[in-house]
Amino acid sequence: MGWITGEVVSEHNLELDPERLQLLGERVTDFITRYYQQLAGGEIFPPEATPASLRQLMDEPLPRQPQGVEQALDDFAAKVAANSTRVGHPRFLGWIRTSPLAVAVYAEALAAALNQSVAVWEGAPAATEVELRVLDWLKEMVGYPLSAGGILASGGSVANFICLLAARSVADPQIRELGLAGRTPLTLYITPETHYCVIKAAEMMGIGRRYVRVVETDDQLRMDPLSLAAQIDADCRGGLRPMAVAATIGTVNSGACDDLPGLLEVCQARGVWLHVDGAYGGLAGLDPEKRHLVRGLDQVDSLVVDPHKSLYIPFEAGCALVKDPAHLLAAFAVRADYLPNTERGVEESSLPVHLRDYGPQLSRSFRALKLYLSLKAYGVDAIAAANARQHRLASLLAERAAADPELELTAPVSLGIVTFRHVPPVPVGEPNPDAWLDEHNRRLASHLQRQGQTFVSATRVRDRTALRACFVSYRTQESDIDLILQDVLAAGRSL
Ligand SMILES: Cc1ncc(COP(=O)(O)O)c(C=O)c1O
Repeated sequence: MGWITGEVVSEHNLELDPERLQLLGERVTDFITRYYQQLAGGEIFPPEATPASLRQLMDEPLPRQPQGVEQALDDFAAKVAANSTRVGHPRFLGWIRTSPLAVAVYAEALAAALNQSVAVWEGAPAATEVELRVLDWLKEMVGYPLSAGGILASGGSVANFICLLAARSVADPQIRELGLAGRTPLTLYITPETHYCVIKAAEMMGIGRRYVRVVETDDQLRMDPLSLAAQIDADCRGGLRPMAVAATIGTVNSGACDDLPGLLEVCQARGVWLHVDGAYGGLAGLDPEKRHLVRGLDQVDSLVVDPHKSLYIPFEAGCALVKDPAHLLAAFAVRADYLPNTERGVEESSLPVHLRDYGPQLSRSFRALKLYLSLKAYGVDAIAAANARQHRLASLLAERAAADPELELTAPVSLGIVTFRHVPPVPVGEPNPDAWLDEHNRRLASHLQRQGQTFVSATRVRDRTALRACFVSYRTQESDIDLILQDVLAAGRSL
């Protein structure tokens, strides 16, 4: 049917006829079905992939003439999919990358079909309302007040930026008019465990790195409230303007959760905004066993959660929540002659909500749909149960690692992240045993990644290199723990 030839796409028929459209869908569906069927069988990291080999593979001229849809899809399978890391594999434990839910995968196509830019209500009426509904569901899942404002974002980095810009507009209501130049510096408080995106956010909003104060942590890698109080007080005495404390629930390195009640006390007594980066762990309370770690979350001024981490939503899906929606409007609302504008009192009334005024983007994808459909299709309880299993798997791996004389845990386990090291005998005469073990574990992580059956990342915890296994896939089972340990020990001994 000319499917392979250039006839399919030309200046005159960019529109596919219904028959071809149907075929296209079937081809894509076939691919996705086969991909998921074979996901657990293959190597996690594509064995032949190197930057040079992939650049050569993709070294294609601009296709002026159509090659046909079939050819394009075949190329996708052979060049792109075959050289992609199998992120949904049950033993892919690198960084924080989840296995997406199939409904959410297809929801991406449905959202693209409608092509709503969720910026002004009139341009995307249902999509705006779906996003507001999903935001309310997320608030309910976190236990955050339903009266809070919020917006979906690409991920934790941008969501943190959004929340901190809201904090900045409260600390300095004139900032959008006057800028920061020549004015008293604002300060932000983090710990050595804080994700770098928070520092980047501070840089992007004009707070120099020197005004990002790094507060000490305790033996659980949590921000120490007493040190925080002392630092804020010293800054106030020094004439600086404390803008916000950025706490974390579920640090990227080890999943540590700051003591929110302790930090709330310090912040509330001093009138300082308490922000929580819960990109990874903000939804931890879905697991009843972890609820104690999120105590106080309902009281913080702003909060980030990432559905593309713990809710099995494909990239990109982050969420910024701010207790008082007016603070988001203060940071982002702009009047424009060529667009509908946010009216005063929008939160209390039935006036249209224009989400462009709650964040930095104008054109915005309909990312709420994949959450909306997934939560409806699977239900929160099933997702919560899968989260809880991941937490149990992390504890199990930690127990087994702690009991093994060849392994060593490097940080307490709070949620689904385990950091540990292989500690074989250091060669006799080695002048720097610590450096040798660091290098050994760094090589071990990259060896495991290349070897294809267990993918862990490497990190530094308390100044030592460690392997880091992050359980965020609903596919990982208890039987995988044995395989992970076998792979780590065999690879460690072979190096
Ligand atoms: C605690 C924490 N905050 C922020 C981020 C950044 O989120 P994103 O990668 O979605 O931008 C991450 C990413 O892993 C994270 O773990």
